[in-house]
Amino acid sequence: MDEQSLKVALPFFPALRFFESTGSTNDIAMTWAAQGAPDFSLVAADHQSAGRGRLQRRWITTAGSALAFSLILRPTSVEAEHLSFFTALGALALSDVLKEQYGLISTIKWPNDVLIDHRKTAGILVEATWHGDIVQSVVLGIGVNVAPESVPPDEEVLYPAACVESALGKEVNRVELLAALLERIKSLRSEMRSSRFLAAWRDHLAFQGETVQVVETAGVTLTGILLGLNEDGSLRLQAETGTIYSIQAGDIRLRPVKANG
Ligand code: BTN
Repeated sequence: MDEQSLKVALPFFPALRFFESTGSTNDIAMTWAAQGAPDFSLVAADHQSAGRGRLQRRWITTAGSALAFSLILRPTSVEAEHLSFFTALGALALSDVLKEQYGLISTIKWPNDVLIDHRKTAGILVEATWHGDIVQSVVLGIGVNVAPESVPPDEEVLYPAACVESALGKEVNRVELLAALLERIKSLRSEMRSSRFLAAWRDHLAFQGETVQVVETAGVTLTGILLGLNEDGSLRLQAETGTIYSIQAGDIRLRPVKANG
């Protein structure tokens, strides 16, 4: 991937910054957003030396093998009330493109991972810049493992990873994938608060009906059956006591099935 091929593939993009190597595209995008970057400005990199994931985790981007980009969005006042939907916007747009362009079925591990064959193939990190309590911009950071070199070994990650090319069995043009994904994000954004969007998110939700552990951001661990999503995008979990919880933010772990006796 290089700047020229990106500019050719994305001729109508308002503003675009490409780096062969950088720390984190989200960091650059946050600074650029604070300086006034317009809606739908893009920061992309071929390699990241300090890629970040949710919950202060590291995200590795190996040169020549992945997508790593951050999109700066200027939310409307309605969009700004539902920031968690931006994570779903990125995840659903990628799931759509994987299906439509490559025939690959993926699921969404709430809130921010895209899985193929139960392995993490992409992660999404949404951050925002604020002016007081008003959201000025949303930075939608997306990392996709495309080629096998992008997949970290199982012992280095909390959740086993995979990549698009291995699932597909052939090479994927990263610039074409990026262009299709950006196009889909743009079209899906207008549906973000619709019942169709929520239905699609529910359809893609991984582990429905399964027993999972959710570590809430405050550090509390809840175990229960994953029932689905509430209207506001929070997770519905039925604990062993029968109580139904709504979880706003957290991290899902699949709980091993207990052996009988
Ligand atoms: C996660 O899995 O927790 C989210 C990973 C998000 C990674 C992307 S890569 C592009 C952008 N820049 C970053 O530093 N992080 C996001």
